[in-house]
Amino acid sequence: MSDRQLASVPPDDWAPGSWRTRPAAQQPAYPDGDALARVLAELRCLPPLVTSWEILALKQRLAEAQEGRRFLLQGGDCAENFDDCTPEVISNRLKVLLQMSLVLVHGLRLPVVRVGRFAGQYAKPRSADVETVDGATLPSYRGDIVNAPAFDPASRTPDPRRMVKAHARSAMTMNFVRSLIDGGFADLHHPEYWDLEWVGHSPLAEEYRRMVAGIGDAVRFMETLSGSDVHNLDRVDFYTSHEALLLPYEEAQARQVPRQWGWFNLGTHFPWIGMRTASLDGAHVEYFRGIRNPVAVKVGPSATPDQLLRLADVLNPGNEPGRLTFIHRMGAGRIASSLPPLLDAVRREGRRVLWVCDPMHGNTEKAATGYKTRRFANIRSELEQAFELHAAAGTRLGGVHLELTGEDVTECTGGARDLTDADLARAYRSTVDPRLNYEQALEVAMLVVRKQSQLATPL
Ligand code: PEP
Ligand code: CO
Repeated sequence: MSDRQLASVPPDDWAPGSWRTRPAAQQPAYPDGDALARVLAELRCLPPLVTSWEILALKQRLAEAQEGRRFLLQGGDCAENFDDCTPEVISNRLKVLLQMSLVLVHGLRLPVVRVGRFAGQYAKPRSADVETVDGATLPSYRGDIVNAPAFDPASRTPDPRRMVKAHARSAMTMNFVRSLIDGGFADLHHPEYWDLEWVGHSPLAEEYRRMVAGIGDAVRFMETLSGSDVHNLDRVDFYTSHEALLLPYEEAQARQVPRQWGWFNLGTHFPWIGMRTASLDGAHVEYFRGIRNPVAVKVGPSATPDQLLRLADVLNPGNEPGRLTFIHRMGAGRIASSLPPLLDAVRREGRRVLWVCDPMHGNTEKAATGYKTRRFANIRSELEQAFELHAAAGTRLGGVHLELTGEDVTECTGGARDLTDADLARAYRSTVDPRLNYEQALEVAMLVVRKQSQLATPL
């Protein structure tokens, strides 16, 4: 069947700017409207960061993940920042994602769809529009694409030029990731390329190395058998995603392309709507409705079955496979009561969605030392419960969404090295949410494999 037949009809009452008629939450107030208009005109003319055929290929893969033929690994920083657009930070993050995907491919015996939370993850939702310190009130920091974190009027005033810089940084990140991968960085013959300096000391290193050695043997065996190189092991595909929060920027990324109908957001492959901006009548849902990318929505513990079904109506009226992903982020204490009614309703109504678990955002807390943190035990618990709840509901957990970094940070507690609250001060680098470090991320991948195989072999 052609994509045209599978797809929904393009909405004729939609335009890249039709979101402007709806209430738009979490948008900055730009003081200079002319400067904003000039920047948007400039952005509209710049080359796209991704192509429509990559987007449609990803949609196909997500459709396969819905059917249990692939598993989605989506991960990266909570927020990228301009200073961290460096070769080390980018390649270390890629290494962790590649190692995790190797663990998943090996353990789940399924191809993995790799999607980075990068090359555009620059805007953050905030709980308040302003922040008051010592009697002074300034706009909240909304991510590097909007303003700067320092608490002074110049830093906090939203500056539209930052959108051009974010676009350029996204392009540089994408260019470097593509070059690394095309150059053989992801070659399964050379998993040693992905070693991080501190891995040798990791309690998980032994298990990971054993797995890598096993894969190396299998590759060599197959090559001996076939008398030639095993193809497709020297490259993997990497897709990008970000929270499409800042709507003027996203509007400028909406493009039409030759020989395709409709509109695509060509600033990323796979945009998502955050939990705070997912209201049915809101501007974000309006914008997302008209683009042909695969799209995701974060779903929190207060979502009702009816809300979810109506979101599916609006975002995926044709019930097109691969189009819609729901990323649930409930919290370890709430998932058991919040998730099952949603799974039941979506299954009962025959909606095609990919279910993904984000075990991070419902488990954020403040440590006694004042740091925003997450306990590994809660992350693990939410993920394990998610697998069990899906199995009980007859639905399928098709992926995980994680905040992680390849840097050796101490932001989440627990894990193989059992970090405590006292360790947080040692290497806490995030200005937003606490991320899994390399070891904790690898541990999550191993956990997914363990849990999945437990469920596949009932006692
Ligand atoms: C995030 O993914 O960084 C985020 C803000 O998530 P949520 O919308 O689920 O709170
Ligand atoms: Co976050």
